[in-house]
Amino acid sequence: MAKLKVGILISGRGSNMAALIKAATAPDYPAEIACVISNVADAPGLGIARQAGIAAMVISHKDHPDRESFDRALSSALESHGVELVVLAGFMRILSRWFPERWAGRLLNIHPSLLPAFRGRHVERQALSAGVRVSGCTVHLVVPDLDAGPIVAQAAVPVLPNDTEETLSARILRQEHRLYPMVVRWFAEGRIVETSRGVEVKDVPAGATLLFSAEP
Ligand code: GRF
Repeated sequence: MAKLKVGILISGRGSNMAALIKAATAPDYPAEIACVISNVADAPGLGIARQAGIAAMVISHKDHPDRESFDRALSSALESHGVELVVLAGFMRILSRWFPERWAGRLLNIHPSLLPAFRGRHVERQALSAGVRVSGCTVHLVVPDLDAGPIVAQAAVPVLPNDTEETLSARILRQEHRLYPMVVRWFAEGRIVETSRGVEVKDVPAGATLLFSAEP
């Protein structure tokens, strides 16, 4: 069967992108990475993608007069690569309403908290200041409001007494790298269905949409 064509948008390091590229090398993985686009010219992730033989390009928001014209340029590039699902992976640019509306139901993001807690930036710092004992990451469908779309799956990790933003972030990131490839697989298999209560993942074992890790 034809594999689902995925386009990944990045702005930096690209470790989630790398996890998706790695997952997609498995012969039985139902998705392939059709292209990677960065809005930042020197994003380290671009080199990782190119090394893996993936079309990787820069579309700078600085070359566009407003958010929507930038978003339209992104969208055209994704379409020209036949992309069917867009995955935001550390993409640090706020999109105009136009983009999530254009890609409604076909646009995923990963966020380093258990949403709806701690939206926006400095997420690990917010979790530490709140004193929560558990945090994690969330993959959700993207809607025009920031970090507000229906939740597909989450991974939970402990917050330890001596954590810093860096140690907590690293613990969460390890789970992001498990969670995102799993959700993209489900999307490609047509299991992710929007319902009146949000999103349901069809025909997966009970509890599959929540990962736990007790690793320090
Ligand atoms: C991750 O923490 C992700 O949750 C957030 O941005 C970070 C991206 O990291 N949206 P990377 O570029 O994938 O390494």
